[in-house]
Amino acid sequence: MNETKSSVLEPQMYPIRSTFNIPEAPEKAAIQGLKPGLLGVPKIDPFYVFETERLRDLTMFWIGGFKAMLIEGDPSAGKTSFVKQWHAKLNVPLATVACSPDTQNYQVFGQMLPTEDGKLRWHDGPVTKACRDGTSVLLDEYNILEPGQASALNLVLEGYSWTIPETGEVITPAPSTRFFATQNSIDSLAAVTGRNVMDVANEDRFFYMEVDFLKPEHEEALVLRTLLPGGVQVDVAKSIAKLTVEVANEVRIAFRNGAEAIEKPLSTRAVLRWAKLASMYTPVLKAKKQSGLHFAIRRAVKMPRTMAAAVNEYITLATGFDENLDQAMVTQ
Ligand SMILES: Nc1ncnc2c1ncn2[C@@H]1O[C@H](COP(=O)(O)OP(=O)(O)OP(=O)(O)O)[C@@H](O)[C@H]1O
Ligand SMILES: [Mg+2]
Repeated sequence: MNETKSSVLEPQMYPIRSTFNIPEAPEKAAIQGLKPGLLGVPKIDPFYVFETERLRDLTMFWIGGFKAMLIEGDPSAGKTSFVKQWHAKLNVPLATVACSPDTQNYQVFGQMLPTEDGKLRWHDGPVTKACRDGTSVLLDEYNILEPGQASALNLVLEGYSWTIPETGEVITPAPSTRFFATQNSIDSLAAVTGRNVMDVANEDRFFYMEVDFLKPEHEEALVLRTLLPGGVQVDVAKSIAKLTVEVANEVRIAFRNGAEAIEKPLSTRAVLRWAKLASMYTPVLKAKKQSGLHFAIRRAVKMPRTMAAAVNEYITLATGFDENLDQAMVTQ
């Protein structure tokens, strides 16, 4: 039996304030990442907004020596992108396992594959490789994994050594190996099908974090930053940003309160699409006396009729005009 030595990756400190654009962070506060240039580091999204509370939770996890974090939230609340953008900024490779009910051991840990001369050679899967290098793994949509498959990760999630049965090699995870699992919660009101209740022993291994939609001021700023480079006038962009975010939050609240017509929340992704389409359609439709905002939402999000009608009403209330640009009637 041979024991693995983990390869050494060169650390680098990153100041929180400038790296994550958090002006209120203490000047000297810094987080350890790696020297730039490694394979497998996610690409930076220049529009990504880091929120202070989320960042604080992840910082505690990162510097506290924890191994595994479970991030839950509504569909599209911003779970996957948060983990990816954190790693992008700190230059730490992040291997992603897109979990499915059919995910098998070999896709996670590795397998023997034939070489050109007909022999078999071991190939590390994402978890094994991260354990050797001391990098991170994202188990995306974790509760779609078959629970037995999730339990196979129990040792690893706590940083214990394990043996590759095919080779007898003992893998001891490097101390900086970290696991991130993201999922829509099983009790989320959104109809997300195929989620499993995970084994209590497996769940017990995770630092838990809930992610909610962006705060309105952050989401508005994000919409603005995506519209302005497209040449949309500043005052038009500001008004679209304000209205789309306002309506999205109305819909999210109605969804959480169990409003019958609202079958899903509007995601940040959908808001960005809606705002962009609204800015494109508004000048074209104005001449025809039609509202770009009302028109664009139907192209930005697939909704059943009852939901579309309810959302249409929210837009009318927020803008003060209906889909034909007529002054909205205020009903009691
Ligand atoms: N803080 C943010 N700043 C900028 N964009 C964001 C932010 N949060 C989310 N987004 C955008 O919203 C979209 C959805 O985010 P993400 O994929 O992280 O959500 P998710 O919670 O993982 O969704 P799903 O449940 O569908 O997997 C992405 O396009 C992402 O870029
Ligand atoms: Mg996701």
